[in-house]
Amino acid sequence: MKKVRLSLIGFGVVGQGLAELLQTKRDLLRREYDLDVALVSVANSRHGFIYREEGLDIATLLELAARRQPLTQHPGVRHWSSALEGLQATQADILAEATWTNLRDAEPGLSHVRTALQQGMHVTLANKGPAALAASELLDLARQQGVQFRMEATVMAGTPVLSTVREGMAGVEVHAVRGILNGTTNYILSAMAQGRGYAEVLAEAQAQGYAEADPTADVEGYDVVAKTVILAALVFGQFIKPAQVQRQGITGVTLEQVQQAARDGRRIKLIASLSRDGEQLQASVEPVALPLEDPLAHVDGAMNAITFHGDSLSTVTISGPGAGRLQTGQGLLADVIAIAKTL
Ligand code: HSE
Repeated sequence: MKKVRLSLIGFGVVGQGLAELLQTKRDLLRREYDLDVALVSVANSRHGFIYREEGLDIATLLELAARRQPLTQHPGVRHWSSALEGLQATQADILAEATWTNLRDAEPGLSHVRTALQQGMHVTLANKGPAALAASELLDLARQQGVQFRMEATVMAGTPVLSTVREGMAGVEVHAVRGILNGTTNYILSAMAQGRGYAEVLAEAQAQGYAEADPTADVEGYDVVAKTVILAALVFGQFIKPAQVQRQGITGVTLEQVQQAARDGRRIKLIASLSRDGEQLQASVEPVALPLEDPLAHVDGAMNAITFHGDSLSTVTISGPGAGRLQTGQGLLADVIAIAKTL
């Protein structure tokens, strides 16, 4: 049985989702992949970093988190008040980084990822900040260190977009990408099409765990900008800055506009778009009234979808969950399994 030691920084909605999957899928991982994943350290911003050489008990961690009690109450752990110090002082094979997404300077996630890569750890990200603001540096660092830096969970949660385009579609020359890449805004726009009001539905999306800590990132389009920048890097090899993406969120979209579009046989969706024209990459995020023939028009609720336009496969559309606790945890889990296969 292959044993892999995992460190998890960020124990909110997504981090707890990954922990729950590690617990419920323990037998499947053993049976299907001959893999035993020991969660050796966990950190959150309120209680710092805890470490236990022989692995932490996930049921205990989830119970402490549910009761909002300090993680340090887990028996037999060493503790550091800063996640970075804990990471530097301990050993693991893989870091799963799931702290909140900060699109200003990507901290504290960026320092966690940099440190882990410098220490020779493989990294998987759910946090979009480090991938959107520093993908070039971090991919180079991972290459130099001979480790993997994966980020499946950053775009469309656990729906396999990045692995599909990079591995399953290897050799296809993609010239354009269009997608619905934010669960919160798609949930809101879908409910508005049923006549429901914006504020009430946003609160519902927050309660479901779809929205960012500050939902401004969702409704003003910044979250989709981050995902668009990540796609530009991984699909087109172009490292653009968030400010290079033309952006308009959904806060200016009225109930009247959504309902009028529905009467006209259209659906208003927040669409991310990337298209290559020679060496130039055009990137935008904006509400678009899609005709019903467009496969993206039928993607409702917190579902997301993406269409790749390329040469040998013409168009490929992938749809699936784009947000949520277990759905995003699944993206991290798939990366952990992919990394473990190479160890
Ligand atoms: N807030 C994001 C969304 C979470 O609603 O899609 C997933 O990145």
